This record gives sequence, C-alpha cells and structure tokens, in this order.
Amino acid sequence: MRQLILKFVLRVLRSVGLRVHQLTGRTQDEGIERSGFALHRGYRLPPRSLRGRMCGDAFRTNSFFFLSGVLEATKFPQRLGYTQGSRVVDIGSGLGRVATGLLAEFGDVHYLGIDANEDFVCWCKDNIESRHPSFRFVHLDMANELYNPAGALDGSELRLPVDDDSADIVYLWGVFSNMVPAHVEAYAGEIARILRPQGRCFLTAFVEDGVPDVTFNPTDYVPYACNEPLTVVRYSRPWLFSTLQRHGLQVADFRHHGTMFPMHSEIYLAKA
Ligand SMILES: C[S@@+](CC[C@H](N)C(=O)[O-])C[C@H]1O[C@@H](n2cnc3c(N)ncnc32)[C@H](O)[C@@H]1O
Repeated sequence: MRQLILKFVLRVLRSVGLRVHQLTGRTQDEGIERSGFALHRGYRLPPRSLRGRMCGDAFRTNSFFFLSGVLEATKFPQRLGYTQGSRVVDIGSGLGRVATGLLAEFGDVHYLGIDANEDFVCWCKDNIESRHPSFRFVHLDMANELYNPAGALDGSELRLPVDDDSADIVYLWGVFSNMVPAHVEAYAGEIARILRPQGRCFLTAFVEDGVPDVTFNPTDYVPYACNEPLTVVRYSRPWLFSTLQRHGLQVADFRHHGTMFPMHSEIYLAKA
C-alpha cells in the first residue's frame, strides 16, 4: 500500500515537474541550494548542475530525486530480504539517490556504493559518508564511454573491493542499461562472487524479446534523444538471461517494463 501511494505521488510529481520544466525552461527547486548541495527535508541532495547527466529531467526536481530513492528503499525488505545489518552493495551508486532513500527509510545501513564516475563518488563521500559513516563510497576506474570515458580499467580487470560471499543485497539501478556487453559479463561474474548463497541481486535493464542480442541507442525505442554513446544499451532477453546464468545467477523474478522509467525492466536474481 505504502509503495502504491509513493508510486502515485511520484507519478504526479514527475508530470508536474516535467510540465513546469517545459513551461519555464527551468527545473523546480523546493530546497535551498547551497554551495555543493541542495537541502531537501533535512537531507543533502546533489546540486542540479551535477544531476544533469542522470537519467533525464525528472530527476532534477528535488522531490522526485528524493522520493524515487525512498521508493527504491521500500523494495528492500519485501523483495530483497533486507533486515537491519544486511550488507548492501550498490554498484553504479551515482549521486547517492538510493543511498539517500535507504538513509531516510532505515537510518544507518551497512552500505557500500561503487561508481565509475569520480565526481559522483566525491560528492557522495563529502555529503553522505562524512555525515553517515555506515555509508561508504569507492571509485572504480572502469571505462564507460558515457560516465567515465578516460577510465583505466576494462572488463577483464574488474575486481570489486568486496569479499567473496559477503553481500546480502547487490543493487544496480540503471547500470546495465548503459554498459557494453563485455562489462555486463564481467559484472555478472563479480556479483556471483560477492553475493552470499542466500543473497539477492536486483538490477534494471533494457530487455526485450525478438531483438538482436545487443543494440546501442536503438531507434524510436525511448522517448528521449540518444545523442551520446551508451545512452541506451538494449539486450535481448535470451542473451542477458543466459549470460547471467552462465555466471551462476538465476532469474528469480522478471518485471518487464516494471519501473517508472520508460522501457526499463526489473530483474531479481538469486545465486544458482
Ligand atoms: C543512470 S546512473 C544510475 C545511478 C544510480 N544507480 C541511481 O539509481 O540513481 C548510472 C551510474 O552507473 C555508473 N557506472 C557506469 N558504468 C559503471 C561501471 N562500469 N562501474 C561502476 N559504475 C558505473 C555511472 O557512473 C552512473 O553513476
């Protein structure tokens, strides 16, 4: 019920936010934007200048950014078995949207955020980790044409700074959606390595049936421009599921187009 209410509020906020943006050419800011962060309901959110590269205009509104993170957090207990003390690894932690949702929902969480974009990680360290030390963030210099073009590491060199069989929940929102297949392979192997036997992984991806294995920036697929490399990477369901399976991850639940973000599907994984 709570999730439904949150989803409804988010829909309204998103449509209002987008209309205001279209009318005025500016995004709303309900918080006080200080140097380096925007204050919203007592939580530090990234300034809109940094958010420009995140998932579209709706995320520029403070209330949408914040509530969408809270909505993600509400999935953790029911769908991912989160309890106090669970170890959460958020791969592609971005600007701390999910971390902030977890903080608002549960307080201290044993959380590690990993991201390829150094600016995003620095912001999270300065504004979340420094105030809430159970939340930690690390930079991983993986090359990604969209988020870290000068990155030094490729997929074959990936080693997450996490022990074997130690994570209860591995979370990737909007990460495989902008990632080349070799890196999806590498991350699938690492997720299987770090996940506890009873752990759960959640990820979102662009996944369809009856399409080529991999399509970069598919034409007329999403309702926004794909002008930059890796804006959208779409996988065929057989390719993605068999890749995950080959690395020891089995699909426990698949919700086609299950997120509020256009064409984004939700995938829940368990260790095979
Ligand atoms: C669309 S954003 C989503 C951010 C966050 N998960 C959220 O839901 O707000 C994608 C994030 O994945 C990160 N990323 C892309 N490739 C990555 C990689 N190979 N390793 C770690 N992070 C990566 C980007 O830097 C970016 O912060």
